[in-house]
Amino acid sequence: MTATSADTLTRRPEARERAQALLSEMTLAEKIGQMSQVEATHGYAPDYLAERLRAGDIGSVINNVDVGIINELQRIAVEESRLGIPLLIGRDVIHGFKTIFPIPLGQGATWNPELVEEGARVAAREAAKCGVNWTFAPMIDISRDPRWGRIAESFGECVLLTSTLGVAMVKGFQGDSLATNGSIAACAKHFAGYGAVESGRDYATTNIPDTKLRNVYFRPFNAAVDAGVSTVMTSFSDLNGVPATGNRYILTEVLRGEWDFDGFVVSDWDSIRQLQIHGLTENDRESACEAVDAGVDMEMAGDAFSGNLSGLVEEGRVSEARIDAAVMKILTLKFDLGLFENPYTDPESLPGYASEPALEAARLAALQSCVLLKNNARALPLDTGAVSSLAVIGPLADAPYEQLGTWIFDGDPDLSVTPLTAIRDFVGEDVDVRYVRAMQNSRSRDTADFDVAASTAAQCDAVLLFLGEESILSGEAHSRADIGLPGAQEELVRRVRAAGKPVIAVILAGRPLTLSDVVGEVDAILYAWHPGTMGGPAIADLLFGIESPSGKLPATFPRVVGQIPIYYSQKNGGKPPNRDNVVHIDDIEAFAPQTSLGMSAFHLDTCFTPLFPFGHGLSYTNFVYENVRVSDDEIELGGTVTISAELSNRGDVEAEEVVQLYTRDLVGSITRPVKELKGFRRERLRPGETRTVSFDLHTDDLTFSGRDGRRVVEPGLFHAWIGGSSDIDLHTAFRIVASRS
Ligand code: BGC
Repeated sequence: MTATSADTLTRRPEARERAQALLSEMTLAEKIGQMSQVEATHGYAPDYLAERLRAGDIGSVINNVDVGIINELQRIAVEESRLGIPLLIGRDVIHGFKTIFPIPLGQGATWNPELVEEGARVAAREAAKCGVNWTFAPMIDISRDPRWGRIAESFGECVLLTSTLGVAMVKGFQGDSLATNGSIAACAKHFAGYGAVESGRDYATTNIPDTKLRNVYFRPFNAAVDAGVSTVMTSFSDLNGVPATGNRYILTEVLRGEWDFDGFVVSDWDSIRQLQIHGLTENDRESACEAVDAGVDMEMAGDAFSGNLSGLVEEGRVSEARIDAAVMKILTLKFDLGLFENPYTDPESLPGYASEPALEAARLAALQSCVLLKNNARALPLDTGAVSSLAVIGPLADAPYEQLGTWIFDGDPDLSVTPLTAIRDFVGEDVDVRYVRAMQNSRSRDTADFDVAASTAAQCDAVLLFLGEESILSGEAHSRADIGLPGAQEELVRRVRAAGKPVIAVILAGRPLTLSDVVGEVDAILYAWHPGTMGGPAIADLLFGIESPSGKLPATFPRVVGQIPIYYSQKNGGKPPNRDNVVHIDDIEAFAPQTSLGMSAFHLDTCFTPLFPFGHGLSYTNFVYENVRVSDDEIELGGTVTISAELSNRGDVEAEEVVQLYTRDLVGSITRPVKELKGFRRERLRPGETRTVSFDLHTDDLTFSGRDGRRVVEPGLFHAWIGGSSDIDLHTAFRIVASRS
């Protein structure tokens, strides 16, 4: 059930001994060299770096993907330096290399660890083909603020979903053995708490109580460590007054002391020198001292370590033992990767870029990532027999680069199949497809083409509106304060709506958007995130009903920004809002009037519920859950309870459903969330089919970190829900007892 039960990576048993032997031959300068990563972007390499490589001053390079240059850098390091130590070649391979998969948040919406693992495997092979042997992914920051641009890089808000998919991604990159051709080292980032930056402003500060760190933000990292992740990256953010890069508590006491992490810690880009800007240190020397003492083993793209560590050792402020410990871990990874035997890359030894299987994996991931948010009167799927003309309108219908999303350094937009192309391919000559871009980009305020858009809509049988955000509106340093549809898009929706034809919105975006003003104006909404290279064919298959949508939201959709943070696993508080006040309009919860008698946790001007809850996602069929039950009303600590439900497909198409198990621990020594995801599984059912879905829950799956920080499971009453979203009523109960009387 838990993410931590994943198979762990096989490491080479001799790697540590070989690293130890090598370490004993190294000078202090060579050791510090291993702790330094430098930028090797085109133009800087290899001549620029040759001298430092020969001197053994560099342990790793970042940002070069030219296999000829990388092989040359390795050659200089291996053949011309005194000890011949090969390089770690780092690159951000976040959601694909050449073949781009959906943004991680979209992959989160698949709730499918096998697909996420396969996507990372494809990416690893493509990256390894040019000599990259280390990536800075997965990003497993719990993200509960859609204003934060980096939510796009995350798997969303949920501890179990993020942990499970993070582990899957680690396994995909690293494979069964790092030494296998096509495996690369993974890096769990950003440790820790980066997702909680104040007001969603990137790089801002975070204040997170220890219980929350332990029960929420740490958990995916603990799972990744248990799964054998090779490296961990620090966060740029200030954590409770001590920036993560200088935070000994998280990097040494927790990561190494409590979790036995045996890989190495890399700083984020130049984040050691930034300790001074934070106001923690006076200069680079102090920053290097704080960072190495806190537990940072390698500096990314900065010179605080290379310029200061030897002086700090000479002064006795940093022990050589601390340096040795860092270098041991770096060398061990190099031995684990087999770099001493095979420092060079033969691109021909790996499959070509964007191979058929890679594109098919990307298509499947995109297909399962799309979430059907709304589907009034079965507006979808479109029946090609019933429509003879289709208006395809909007700035994101035919935008090959934008559909790839953020962090795609090496992604190739020429490979993208856009929705417009895929729709035209699908309908062929049968349907007249009329395309109006209407806006140059998603931010445009120019409405000059809206008349054409509206008249085209009026002339067609149905309208497909491709809206959202282009890729630059999410990602690092791209936070937004207003997360509605940018530019004049809402006006475009209204103009097109006025034509009186069925309107289907397909939204491509890097975050949950606030859609309150749009949701009533359209008949259906398919949320496609940034779906990657094969987004078009996946979207077309869903629009025309070749497959039923099966994605589920990995993050709550707020109605308005003022609700943020809003997430399913909230605490109840002492005055929780009353669900009876909720009003429904068109099946969607609308404004719940507050009265002076309310006296509960409410905003006066909006409903307390989100626009769309975590786990939500409709299907073309009708899935019905019944008879949720437990195997035992009472279990002992250390025991297992089975929770089951009957799932039926009462519609008329075969479809997949993500079945979700939630629990609530009703009484805790620290208060517990109103719901916590404890299991999930995809089930495919034919029309008319009924299946029993069961989850085994061990009492260890119900632990939490208590007041003293230790994980406990406390006897008492638990509720359990099984359903197709976090907003479900059908539940059962069981009790954990210390021992049966
Ligand atoms: C980001 C990291 C990334 C690094 C290297 C930093 O700005 O925060 O996530 O891995 O750059 O590109």
